[in-house]
Amino acid sequence: MATDLGMGQPLETALRTCVVAVRLGETIGLSTRVLRDAYYYALLRYIGCNAHTYAMAALFGDELSLRRDFASVDAADIPAVLELSARYIRQAHAEAPPERVTAIVATALAELPEFMRESFLGHCEVAQRLADRMALEPSVIACLGQVYERWDGHGLPLGIAGEAIAPAVMLVALAQDAVIWDRIDGPDAAVATVSKRSGGAYDPSIAERFCAAARTILAGVQDQPTWEAVLDLEPGGQRPLAADEFDRACEAIADFADLKSPYTLGHSSGVATLAAGAGRQYGLPNDDVVALRRAGMLHDIGRVGISAGIWTRETALSERDREQIRLHSYYADRVLARPEALKRLGEVASRHHERMDGSGYHRGVLGNNLPPAARILAAADVYQAMTETRPHRPALQPEQAAAEVRREVRAGRLDGQSADAVLAEAGHGVSRGQRRGPAGLSQREIEVLRLLARGLGNREMAEQLTVSQDTIKHHIQHVYNKIGVSTRAGATLFAMEQSLV
Ligand SMILES: [Fe+2]
Repeated sequence: MATDLGMGQPLETALRTCVVAVRLGETIGLSTRVLRDAYYYALLRYIGCNAHTYAMAALFGDELSLRRDFASVDAADIPAVLELSARYIRQAHAEAPPERVTAIVATALAELPEFMRESFLGHCEVAQRLADRMALEPSVIACLGQVYERWDGHGLPLGIAGEAIAPAVMLVALAQDAVIWDRIDGPDAAVATVSKRSGGAYDPSIAERFCAAARTILAGVQDQPTWEAVLDLEPGGQRPLAADEFDRACEAIADFADLKSPYTLGHSSGVATLAAGAGRQYGLPNDDVVALRRAGMLHDIGRVGISAGIWTRETALSERDREQIRLHSYYADRVLARPEALKRLGEVASRHHERMDGSGYHRGVLGNNLPPAARILAAADVYQAMTETRPHRPALQPEQAAAEVRREVRAGRLDGQSADAVLAEAGHGVSRGQRRGPAGLSQREIEVLRLLARGLGNREMAEQLTVSQDTIKHHIQHVYNKIGVSTRAGATLFAMEQSLV
């Protein structure tokens, strides 16, 4: 559900894709093993989607609407890709003088292949690391390394072709496009698109079987309740997560959410730790503390549905921007609403912007309707955010952040007892960034990694660390090698995993 928001798709697109992929796989007679891979891969195909989005937004403007439009294009249709990209770049820079816009478009299009390679490779790298933390099986993780591969070998990141691509990957690539085209213009449009792209994007034998049975496979997909259908469909039976696996999955989702903007890296896990500690200080029962920590991990999952351009905007936010931002807690509510285990967490998580005097969002309820966990989470979120840099202000020192929290209490917006617990907890917190370098990174390399994660270019990094750009390039290569990644997005996620951001 969250990745649908991040890909600019209507909610339940991934769920529908999952249903269609499994039905199609069953029609072909694929093994339970492949069906199971396809099932999970279809649901989680875009968990790397937040990587690199701030760079996309800087270049193209609203990356979510670009992605929505891009989803119906054949990625190997170069003229169509260029036309769409040029249109977005022009719109995003509409305020520049016309001759500047032409130059920006020309430069950006020339750099587009490298930009796309870095983005798509980053999505795969991030998706694989997150999937590992979510206890997914190795065969599913392998699929997540092939998200943009094509049957004809013109895909990314590896450009592998035909049988070298996992069958589940080919199945889901077709299923997703079928769902999108069926929604746009019915099953005949889905069949037309699939036959046109057969042998290009898709395995021709899978395409043939789909076209022969499209109406049966797509029957009811757009209007039947999808959630129950997906739960009933799991090939090979359900395997619930153990408590510690569930914790690790929540931590992975926290990092998924925070990757959306370089300003929020580590925010969710910081809020979770602070809120849980405050919950203990407050005297909440242990089970509630555990739930509060998990809710903290999940609280900003709705950020994915708002363009990274808004989260990173340095100028004053417009009315429209603020409306968009108010949606993120509502998105969290809806994304977490259906699975029983997440619903309870979502009820707390989605109230983190509610205020005691009713001035918060998205429900605008009064404090007497807010459980202690939601009040504590709200105070922890305010304190944590104050200690982090935002586009329009520097990070506040702990004393200043505490003063802001106290001011919110006096104004009647935050609950006093909850805020006291948060401040008490923060006072005893271990200072951040004191850990020794993981993966054998030197202090200088950690510095470079931090700046990389924040989205700085090589030139800016060289200036900040007063070394040459060549030295920076050298450091970056060393960092990548030591931690085993090949993209900035992968390095960023590593930095979050190690609490280096
Ligand atoms: Fe938030």
